[in-house]
Amino acid sequence: MLTLVPEEIEIYAQEHSAALPPLLAELTQATQEKFGGLAMMLSGQIEGQLLQTLAASIGAKRALEIGTFTGFSALMMAAALPDDGEIVTLELSSDHAALARSFFQRSPDGHKVRLIEGPALDSLKTLEGPFDLVFIDADKTGYLDYYEAALPMLSERGVIAVDNVLWSGYILDPKDDDGRAIAAFNDHIARDERITNVILTVRDGIMLIRRR
Ligand SMILES: C[S@@+](CC[C@H](N)C(=O)[O-])C[C@H]1O[C@@H](n2cnc3c(N)ncnc32)[C@H](O)[C@@H]1O
Repeated sequence: MLTLVPEEIEIYAQEHSAALPPLLAELTQATQEKFGGLAMMLSGQIEGQLLQTLAASIGAKRALEIGTFTGFSALMMAAALPDDGEIVTLELSSDHAALARSFFQRSPDGHKVRLIEGPALDSLKTLEGPFDLVFIDADKTGYLDYYEAALPMLSERGVIAVDNVLWSGYILDPKDDDGRAIAAFNDHIARDERITNVILTVRDGIMLIRRR
């Protein structure tokens, strides 16, 4: 379990937050069976419900996700979009995309999801905004580029959510390239006068960014 709070507190929070719909619980299990330890990349119930609440509160109509994995967070956000809403989700791995697609096909919200396979930076160049909610959750060394590509496409009321910004606490003394990339990203955001932001100590640290 990826969490910065004591495990029993995380479990309490899970038990007192809205439960996952059965299809998302099934997706979680299928991801564990197919990808083993990689399943820790799933954002999970608390973060998924947070993203869904954000999408609903903003009244998001279009969302963008960078890093689909098996489609968990895409489906959580899609559920809060109107029936003619859209979430574009970008994924490099065809194995991850294949499992995601199989669940999009079965979901009542699947028609709102457009999955684009390939390197996210290339896919981003083909997209046009505006997007009301952007979730950055792919390779950490790409975060800065993803943010700079996404910001001009953010709608006026839009929010960018960025995952793993506290890197299991190692953000204070990063030991690997990913940790150093996230630290550089966080410093960049702290200096960026175009936006305002907050880091939530939820799960692995989630940054929310909006235009000033
Ligand atoms: C942390 S997982 C995403 C988790 C997902 N958002 C969720 O909550 O279930 C990161 C995903 O980004 C993908 N990824 C890594 N590098 C990428 C790139 N350059 N372009 C697109 N996707 C990439 C990985 O294959 C992986 O599936």
